[in-house]
Amino acid sequence: MIKVLMNGCNGKMGQVITKLVKEYDDICITAGVTRDPSKRQNSYPVFRNFKEVAAVEADVVLDFSNPEALPDVVEYCVKHQIALVVGTTGLSENNQEMLRQASASIPVFVSANMSFGVTVLMDLALKAASALGPEYDIEILEKHHNEKKDAPSGTAIMIGKELKNQINNSFELIYDRSKIKEKRKSNEIGISSIRGGTIAGDHTIFFAGKDEIIEIRHTSLSRDILGRGTIRAARYTVLKPNGLYNMKNMLEDSI
Ligand SMILES: NC(=O)c1ccc[n+]([C@@H]2O[C@H](COP(=O)([O-])OP(=O)(O)OC[C@H]3O[C@@H](n4cnc5c(N)ncnc54)[C@H](OP(=O)(O)O)[C@@H]3O)[C@@H](O)[C@H]2O)c1
Repeated sequence: MIKVLMNGCNGKMGQVITKLVKEYDDICITAGVTRDPSKRQNSYPVFRNFKEVAAVEADVVLDFSNPEALPDVVEYCVKHQIALVVGTTGLSENNQEMLRQASASIPVFVSANMSFGVTVLMDLALKAASALGPEYDIEILEKHHNEKKDAPSGTAIMIGKELKNQINNSFELIYDRSKIKEKRKSNEIGISSIRGGTIAGDHTIFFAGKDEIIEIRHTSLSRDILGRGTIRAARYTVLKPNGLYNMKNMLEDSI
């Protein structure tokens, strides 16, 4: 049984994971950390911060909180020799260096997108880009619910950057064509956004060639996919030797 210490347990992701672990018999949450434990009742003991965490049995800390919390999380995991899975986004260079250093003494997994399906989508898109070559124009379309404030999505930008890195760094990501009064250049990757209703998340990569279009698409039906990907990452990380891991490593190891 994998024992989880859930950081950010009262947040949206913390609660998704709290709900999902009940479906599995190889993983459970033994304790949680959240800034204000009084806001919600959980089935496990909850602490205000890592300094207050009493002796709990844990194999892995799952972190979905805030970059400010990271130093305490890392210190706790290194001191107690517990694996760490970080889903918190907006990590600074300092945060990333902290995780690199910690990975010398514990296994650390980091991903800003815990969807395994999106990882597979990205892998397929990179393979398609290599196979199809420069004669195919690449465009990315992402769709999200009407509450989302940022556009394009972080995932669409990540896909665009990965494609650009692989094909040729001189490629340009184009987010808005409304002011460009000229035809599309061949070294562009366009990214477009649609917002509406309750769309959980949808990303399509188009490879438009002469007389044919290839589309690779991932549709997310709920946030649960991020929780399931995190549980998969927890299972993966607790079995790994000390080091730094991400979704790509997990994909490569599962093929
Ligand atoms: N990697 C992925 O796939 C993925 C997916 C979704 C979200 N995320 C990221 O995960 C993080 C949490 O997302 P969420 O949607 O669950 O957020 P949320 O609903 O706002 O929950 C945040 C949690 O972290 C705690 N927290 C907030 N600020 C903190 C601080 N300064 N120090 C310590 N704890 C703090 C909150 O405690 P209180 O509620 O008690 O104040 C709460 O438990 C964000 O960075 C988000 O972008 C990543």
